[in-house]
Amino acid sequence: MPHLVDDHGRYALMVSGAPYLMLGGQINNSSTWPSQMPKVWSAVDAMHLNTVEAPIYWEQLEPMPGAYNYSAVDMLLAGAREHHVHLVVLWFGTWKNGSPGYTPAWVKLDHTRFPYLVGKDGKRYFSMPPYNQALLELDKAAFVALMRHLKQADPQHTVLMVQVENESGVWGAARDYSAATEKLFAQPVPAPVLKAMNKTEAGTWSEVFGEDADEYFHAYSIATYINEIAAAGKRAYPLPLYVNAALRSPLHPSRPPSFESGGPTDDVLPLWKAAAPAIDIVAPDIYLGDYPSYTRVLELYHRPDNALFVPETGNGEAFARYFFAAVGAQAIGWSPFGIDRTWRLPEDSERVDGDAPSPVALNYQIVGPMQREIAALSFAGKVRGSSEDPLTHTQQLQFAPEGGVPARWEAVVSYGQGASYSSRPAPGNEKPIGGALVAQLGPDEFLVTAVHARVDFAPVTTLTGTEKPQRLWALVEEGSYLDGKWQTTRIWNGDQTDYGLNFRDRVQVLRVRLSTF
Ligand code: DGJ
Repeated sequence: MPHLVDDHGRYALMVSGAPYLMLGGQINNSSTWPSQMPKVWSAVDAMHLNTVEAPIYWEQLEPMPGAYNYSAVDMLLAGAREHHVHLVVLWFGTWKNGSPGYTPAWVKLDHTRFPYLVGKDGKRYFSMPPYNQALLELDKAAFVALMRHLKQADPQHTVLMVQVENESGVWGAARDYSAATEKLFAQPVPAPVLKAMNKTEAGTWSEVFGEDADEYFHAYSIATYINEIAAAGKRAYPLPLYVNAALRSPLHPSRPPSFESGGPTDDVLPLWKAAAPAIDIVAPDIYLGDYPSYTRVLELYHRPDNALFVPETGNGEAFARYFFAAVGAQAIGWSPFGIDRTWRLPEDSERVDGDAPSPVALNYQIVGPMQREIAALSFAGKVRGSSEDPLTHTQQLQFAPEGGVPARWEAVVSYGQGASYSSRPAPGNEKPIGGALVAQLGPDEFLVTAVHARVDFAPVTTLTGTEKPQRLWALVEEGSYLDGKWQTTRIWNGDQTDYGLNFRDRVQVLRVRLSTF
């Protein structure tokens, strides 16, 4: 059974008894249909994914009340097995980007039983208030039916995790302001929320949280609603469950309506953790392309109580490099959105439908054959990653002490030298597309791979001047892991090592032994 384990705040997704690194890709919203799957599977193959994230729509699963249709689930299971990939199933229920767009017609069109949320301005918003018990029961029943079906139809565990709802919250308003909800809002803040948010004084939401009260109350209400669905689903079939967040800016904090209110944004992470214990991971959808924001989000969502998992991120060249920073930050998986380009118009000639964005494919081709080794090393705290920062062209990667003994080496990653035989200061690549992954195998031994980057090592020392030891390549082997065993294909020396280890856009993995003179 796939499951999460943790050790000293580090996490692993265990698949068939060993840590697994999810090299993911999410398909477009309207692609879980037989007409679209050929394009999906060709993209899956071209991208070298090991895991596909695909939605299951409530409106398709339960077109008539209580009449469940599992054909889409079975189609995904069969296709994934044929293409030798795992699946993450996304439950598009009460919330899809905050809206009830994927609820069945008999829900979203029945405004008497299922009224939409009322904003402060009295206007209706295309989002459900999280207080409708009838809606909760229906969503829960459908989700439980899905999980039961997976249990019965997937004994081989093709499905690794399930996402409960999608980017829950509301856009444009902070919360529901209907008369019934106003009464709930006037209640005292529950004790677990006070504790989670480090508040010592009890009181109403407004008294305790002031200007943040509307958002925090909505987040608590959604988290408890989703928790009830998740807990029931887990009782039916205990797969790891997660929720995904439409982020707010991690560098310029603001209040709704500048971001989706009520979802698991960074400001309410502890609240979500407390209110939704049946959810294993709170995960960021990272579409913020700038280096400071992206890397800050990785820090914010990698917590001792939360595994880092990036279930959605930008696709293509600008984002591909962040795979390295994410894996280096102990991510259990990373997954660009929209791998099948089925939404593009025919006249959009940039890509052919089903064509893969090659930079992501290259990352996956490099790491795919050793994903189990990287996942195990990551769980042991030995993997570091670097993504190119357009402003700083050299980065040092530090390693943890081992049994109280400090690391002897740091890795130095620099960008923009190409494969030139020179030690000039790194100028950066023309576009920031580089990335590197360095894993420690022993005190003087490392596994190294990169794209558009140079990797070198420096002894960590307090000695100076002529006393200072210099790096000596004892042995640099190029090769790959085959069934868990390292196979050497050649030894790098001369021009290939004299100026550091230079990587461009090839599948190259090195095992490096270091010494000094
Ligand atoms: C985030 C959502 O979670 C996805 O379903 C999709 O709508 C993307 N945004 C589109 O960029």
